[in-house]
Amino acid sequence: MNTCGSESLLSAFLGVHLDVELLCQEMLGAPPLLLAATSLGVALLAFLLILRRWGWVLLLIIFFERVLQPIRNLIMGNTKEERILHHVQQHAKPGDPQSVLEAIDTYCSQKEWAMNLGNTKGEIMDAVIREYGPSLVLELGAYCGYSAVRIARLLPPGGRLLTMEINPDYGAITQQMLDFAGLQDKVTVLLGASYDLIPQLKKKYDVDTLDMVFLDHWKDRYLPDTRLLEECGLLRKGTVLLADNVIIPGAPDFLAYVRGSSSFECTHYSAYLEYMKVTDGLEKAVYKGQDSPVQS
Ligand SMILES: C[S@@+](CC[C@H](N)C(=O)[O-])C[C@H]1O[C@@H](n2cnc3c(N)ncnc32)[C@H](O)[C@@H]1O
Repeated sequence: MNTCGSESLLSAFLGVHLDVELLCQEMLGAPPLLLAATSLGVALLAFLLILRRWGWVLLLIIFFERVLQPIRNLIMGNTKEERILHHVQQHAKPGDPQSVLEAIDTYCSQKEWAMNLGNTKGEIMDAVIREYGPSLVLELGAYCGYSAVRIARLLPPGGRLLTMEINPDYGAITQQMLDFAGLQDKVTVLLGASYDLIPQLKKKYDVDTLDMVFLDHWKDRYLPDTRLLEECGLLRKGTVLLADNVIIPGAPDFLAYVRGSSSFECTHYSAYLEYMKVTDGLEKAVYKGQDSPVQS
């Protein structure tokens, strides 16, 4: 068992494989001063590597989310996601999706930043949905339901959105957000991990192929889940993949895969990160069908 529990994270930052178990064993036998100095050095190195890779914006977000947020939650006795929902319930109109989106955007741009798609990138997604007119959409990563509301409000009569969320608390907020917006009949919230749920879509959720997939979960899952969707036969000629945050935090392996594959036709949409003046982007990758050989 890995006693330090951070092997993959540390290895990912450093870009090399570390035998963390061995490192931990050796460190535990070292004098306390050496241990403290080594820990400080590793923390500093990790800090510099994060700064180099993602810049100050992401560091600031991590600081707010991981340090200040839990303190604020403790003082206020609820979570940020609950506060967003309460704000919507108090300021938006029940059954009016547009007012729900506006209430979330107002709260998150003025009070507390949150990882919703946001209005700037949301308008790009709206345009893609209007262009392709999908009836069956899969969303990976629901969070508070902002993008689910955004997608579902544009579905044609009889259209369906399946949204997957790994965190049950976020899943519950999403369901309440959809209920408030009056979109509950169009959307099914699937609780669980994308990699467990995707293989169940055909048999358990009566899916043949998907018209559109919105990828907005953890960025290291974009590539494996795209491959999984292909393997499970869920993509058809013309299925539109739309991926958020391909610049910040970034999904370089996903981008290299879809841009380098003859099975996808890609378009990049540059835009600002939600509620910030920092460049991010959406990638659209339209599946061209099984006839084209898939490159690995
Ligand atoms: C950026 S947020 C989604 C924001 C949302 N799409 C919106 O714009 O309103 C990412 C969400 O993905 C969820 N998530 C991360 N990995 C996941 C996985 N493998 N399967 C399902 N959900 C996942 C997280 O819990 C988080 O709520």
